[in-house]
Amino acid sequence: MDALELLKQDHRKVGKLFSEVAATEDVKKHQQLFEQIRTELETHTHIEETIIYPAFEEHDELKDLTLEAYEEHKQVKTLIREITALSDGSERFDAKLTVLGENVAHHVQEEEIELFPKVRNVFDREQLEQLGDEVEAAKKQFGKAKKRASAR
Ligand SMILES: [Fe+2]
Ligand SMILES: [Fe+2]
Repeated sequence: MDALELLKQDHRKVGKLFSEVAATEDVKKHQQLFEQIRTELETHTHIEETIIYPAFEEHDELKDLTLEAYEEHKQVKTLIREITALSDGSERFDAKLTVLGENVAHHVQEEEIELFPKVRNVFDREQLEQLGDEVEAAKKQFGKAKKRASAR
């Protein structure tokens, strides 16, 4: 499958999780949803940073936006670390989760509206399919590695 379509599927999935957060005031549910969001984002950013962005970076037309994307990932990861480190029942949990949602939404917009259309000008269909295959294989690997790590 086309790599950009795969990434967009991930974006939709995370977007739905954040909508679920917004739809309830139940703090326990927020906590559960955050766990899912964290898992999704860890996989997604790993895939982008190890497969997608390195491929983009080789092209001058994509370089600046890709560098910006790495920086936005850093902010997202910092927020995830901060939320994870909060003590149970912290009054700052919801505030940080909201800011995380805003950061992710902004980053997804940049990718889908600015970056991906440029990518389509640089890569042809076949190349994007090929990248998509790599993404799918890497996702499986990453999932297994995470399972192993959590079983330890
Ligand atoms: Fe993305
Ligand atoms: Fe990204």
